[in-house]
Amino acid sequence: MRERLEQLKAEALEHLRSVADAKQLDELRVKYQGKKGKLTEILRGMGGLSAEERPVIGQLANEVRDAIDAAVSAHSERFEREETERRLASETIDVTLPGRKLPRGAAHPLNRIIEEIEQIFIGMGYQVSEGPEVETDYHNFEALNLPKDHPARDMQDSFYITEDLLMRTHTSPVQVRTMQKMDGEVPVKIICPGKVYRRDDDDATHSFQFHQIEGLVIGKNIRMSDLKGTLLQLMQELFGSDTQIRMRPSFFPFTEPSAEVDVSYRKKGAESTGWLEVLGCGMVHPRVLEMSGYDPKEYSGFAFGMGAERLAMLKYGIDDIRHFYNNDERFLNQFARQ
Ligand code: DAH
Repeated sequence: MRERLEQLKAEALEHLRSVADAKQLDELRVKYQGKKGKLTEILRGMGGLSAEERPVIGQLANEVRDAIDAAVSAHSERFEREETERRLASETIDVTLPGRKLPRGAAHPLNRIIEEIEQIFIGMGYQVSEGPEVETDYHNFEALNLPKDHPARDMQDSFYITEDLLMRTHTSPVQVRTMQKMDGEVPVKIICPGKVYRRDDDDATHSFQFHQIEGLVIGKNIRMSDLKGTLLQLMQELFGSDTQIRMRPSFFPFTEPSAEVDVSYRKKGAESTGWLEVLGCGMVHPRVLEMSGYDPKEYSGFAFGMGAERLAMLKYGIDDIRHFYNNDERFLNQFARQ
C-alpha cells in the first residue's frame, strides 16, 4: 500500500507537468482526488490493514493528498495569473485616440425666452406658478368676469371638450386658481407661463396653440404706475436699456382700466424702428377680486398677459410663428448656447 501511495504521488506530480490549462487541471484533480479518484480508491483498502499499520499509512495518505493539493493550487494560481495578464493585454486602450463628438442640442427659442422672463421676475420677487391646460368654464371665463353669453367670449374662440370643460384660451385662469389657493392672503406676486389654445387658422402670425406668460400682483395700494414700472423694467432687461413701452387704452372684462402695451423696437441691421403690441394688462377688476375672496375695498392688484411667441420673434428676429413648431433642426440649431 505504501508503494502504491508513493507511486500515485509520483504519477500525479509527473502528470501535472503536462497540464496546459485550468480545465485540464480540474480534470486531473478529479482523477486523483475526486470521490471516485485514485487516492480514494486506495484509501478504501485501508480496512484490511492491521491496527499498527493503519495510522502510518493514514499519515502517508494525508501527505500524498497534501502534496498533490499544493501542486494543484500552485498551478491553478499560475493559470489565473496568466489569464489576467492575457486579458489585460487584450483590453489595453489607446488613451491618445480622439473622442467621438456627441451632437449637442439647443434650447428651444420659446423655452429660452420663457426662462429668461422667469429669471427677470424671480429677480423682482415673483413666484412661478402653473395651471391645467384643460380648464373649467368657470376658471377660464366666469370667474374672470365673463359670464355665459358675454360678447367678449367671442374674442377667444375656444375648443370645448364638454359643455363645462375647454382647452384654456389664455393663462388668466391661473390668476383665479392662485387667488383661490392664497385664500385672501397677500402679497400675491406670480407669473405663469404656459400653452393656450384658440380656434384659429394657422398662418405666419397665428397658431391654434401658442404660449402666454401671465402675471398677477395683489396687495395694498397697488397702482397702475406699479404695473407700468414693472413692464418697463421687464422690457428693458429683455430688449436693452433704451427700450420704451407705450400703453394704449383697451378693454378686457377682467381688468379696469385695461391697456394694451406696445414695445419699441429697432430692426437688426436696418434703421427701421417701430412699435409692436406684445401684451394686455390692467388693474384687476373689483368683481374678479371679490369672486375669488379678496375685498376690493382693502386690496388692489394688477395683471398682465403676454404672448411668448411675439416676444421671441422680436428678440430673435423670427418672421414666421410656424418656425417655432416645425422642429427644423436648421432653425433650432441657431439657438445653441455658446
Ligand atoms: N388674457 C388676455 C388675452 O389672452 C390677456 C390679458 C389681458 C391678460 C389683460 C391679463 C390682463 O392678465 O390683465 O388676450
